[in-house]
Amino acid sequence: MAGPTLAALSDGVYGSELDRRISEATAFLRERLSAHPELASPRIAAVLGSGLGGVVELLDPEPRVAIPYREIPNVPGAAVEGHAGQLVAGRIHGMPALILSGRAHPYEGYSHREATLLLRAVLALGPSTVVVTNAAGGLNPEYEPGDVMLITDHLNLSGDNPLLGPNLDRFGERFPALIDAYDPALRRAALGASERTRIALRQGVYVMLSGPSYETRAEMRMLRGLGADAVGMSTAHETIVARHAGVDVLGFSLITNKATDDVEAGATHEEVIEMGALGAGRLVTLLGDLLPRLG
Ligand code: HPA
Repeated sequence: MAGPTLAALSDGVYGSELDRRISEATAFLRERLSAHPELASPRIAAVLGSGLGGVVELLDPEPRVAIPYREIPNVPGAAVEGHAGQLVAGRIHGMPALILSGRAHPYEGYSHREATLLLRAVLALGPSTVVVTNAAGGLNPEYEPGDVMLITDHLNLSGDNPLLGPNLDRFGERFPALIDAYDPALRRAALGASERTRIALRQGVYVMLSGPSYETRAEMRMLRGLGADAVGMSTAHETIVARHAGVDVLGFSLITNKATDDVEAGATHEEVIEMGALGAGRLVTLLGDLLPRLG
């Protein structure tokens, strides 16, 4: 049988095989949540970046169901420091929500299709909103470590796309639009939460690169010139699968380091974790105000 020959699809995980793997993961999640019918149909799914595990504490204490990624069929684990690698189902002020605490990154060697497999399994449970979060370097010279940025748009310069290969029609159409991918109404709601909580929000464009190396000075200048405010190694692929499925997306970046070409030294992973913790507290406060209003 003549199949695709794109190098990006050489992992074999595309089309009906990808669909089968997603379905198996969804079936497993349905089964695990079946003991808690009130959690089975999440309204919101949130993907947590480095150091954002505290968002889980926004869930009502009961009921909560934690499922380690390694138990979910076909889902790559999340082994990077600062990533818990578990899915937590619960309710936020009574509204069912699923939190993906940790994510598999393309820089670990996963294709965008594999790296979004769990999110797509979750999308099949029918949430209307996905909240994506990440740690990012600040390309905008006004940004300081600890700032929180509301993502207004993205540049996917990672060299991959989760929708490559045969389209999975049950999720969405072949050529999804990405205009206003970060939902304007949700962004307005986030700005309202920012006012109420007095947690300042930057607003800017996120650029996704593959990593894992951080940017050269020339790359920082280029990315800034292209119109990006923050740079990281995740998120755009998740936004793409969510928008493909017609689900509204809201995104936040924690600025963990400056990524301007006049920085003295480049970012270190330790710095990213440490400064991520500073912004994470702010973002958790903001989400604590915002998420209950999204139901
Ligand atoms: N570049 C890319 N990814 C990142 C950075 C950065 O400076 N900081 C946190 N994630």
